[in-house]
Amino acid sequence: MATEVQIFEGALDKGLEGVVACTTQVSSIVGNTLNYRGYTIEDLAQNSTFEEVVYLLWNNKLPNSSELSAFTDSLHKEMTLSPEYIKILKAIPTANVHPMAWLRTAVSLTAHLDKDANDNSTEANKRKALSLTGKMSSIVCAFDAIRSGKDPVSPVAGKSIAWNFMYMLGGGKEPDAESVKVFDTCLILHADHELNCSAFATRVTASSLSDLHSAIVSAIGALKGPLHGGANEQVMLMLKKIGNIENAQKFVKDALDAKEKVMGIGHRVYKNGDPRAAILRKISEKLTQKIGEPQWYQMSTLIDDTMNKEKGLMPNVDFYSATVYYAMKIPTDIYTPIFAVSRMAGWCAHAFEQYANNRIYRPRSKWQGKEGLTWKPAQNR
Ligand code: COA
Repeated sequence: MATEVQIFEGALDKGLEGVVACTTQVSSIVGNTLNYRGYTIEDLAQNSTFEEVVYLLWNNKLPNSSELSAFTDSLHKEMTLSPEYIKILKAIPTANVHPMAWLRTAVSLTAHLDKDANDNSTEANKRKALSLTGKMSSIVCAFDAIRSGKDPVSPVAGKSIAWNFMYMLGGGKEPDAESVKVFDTCLILHADHELNCSAFATRVTASSLSDLHSAIVSAIGALKGPLHGGANEQVMLMLKKIGNIENAQKFVKDALDAKEKVMGIGHRVYKNGDPRAAILRKISEKLTQKIGEPQWYQMSTLIDDTMNKEKGLMPNVDFYSATVYYAMKIPTDIYTPIFAVSRMAGWCAHAFEQYANNRIYRPRSKWQGKEGLTWKPAQNR
């Protein structure tokens, strides 16, 4: 006779804090150091490119020159959206639809045109990951064009994903080198982050041996929320609501008194600061100064200091990325889709790892409802 599986009461925790749910070799957080495949985020942000980081996350090693060139070519080829797909995108409503909701639908629809959609082999999953990661920036920029009644701008061959994102979002205007470098750094910083909410969603869906597109659509849904990727947009909305530096401290204190969250602050894992925020803080200072609007950075640092003093909480990746994107003139509601453009790399890496060593995620829940009830006909209830 089969024995019942034992439940470990000690593992019961709201939000699974401290619970180790899987092993991984994709990325790790040690103290306040974030590593992708053993390389620190500081090292990669300074020296690498997004394309190289995607290769690293998927192949567990940095590419040599010929591997990088072949991989970059194949990734860039996937950036072009077919006329058939653009026609479908134009049919997805944009009015009163959040870009992340639109993106969730748009990415799901790529499966309908993918000949590998139902093939879960390693080779097919690599092809699908390349296609999804190549297309993401073009899809997000297509959204911004379509909602303005314009035709999406096609990517330029031989240019990076960062260059093309700025080019397509800018309506076909060539971006300057500094903006491209900053944007590429942002893509590197957001590419993966251990077992965050959307990576876990990817892995949970993949663990039923569902297809890669389904796992990615689960992840986009998880990223959309304001406690995860949606926070970067909320940070900018909050700063605009605060309006000027004189109001910042009172805003924070009022929020704390009302037990409301201050967006972009706090982290489940980092208690001594998010290393990505430290890098973005410097960029935010420089760029807001450059556009002649340093008040956004000053307001941010005041909120940062006040939250640290009042609650011992520090900014996460979303806090300073908001003002970086603002200074780059990116529409506020595109901030979270940019997170998805980058995080696609990490989601695919997690899905690969899950498929390669799979067991379905099936935890237990602790029953807290009524017991021993018996059914009665509706007229007797
Ligand atoms: N503003 C105000 N208080 C915050 C806070 C914030 N941003 N983040 C955490 N806290 C407080 C909580 O109110 C709670 O205080 P209490 O113990 O006095 O009740 C305590 O810190 C623990 O917060 P909790 O929400 O349980 O932490 P968590 O580990 O479950 O959540 C986050 C982590 C990131 C979801 C949380 O810090 C948050 O909601 N931040 C704002 C959203 C955000 O920036 N998300 C992006 C994450 S990368």
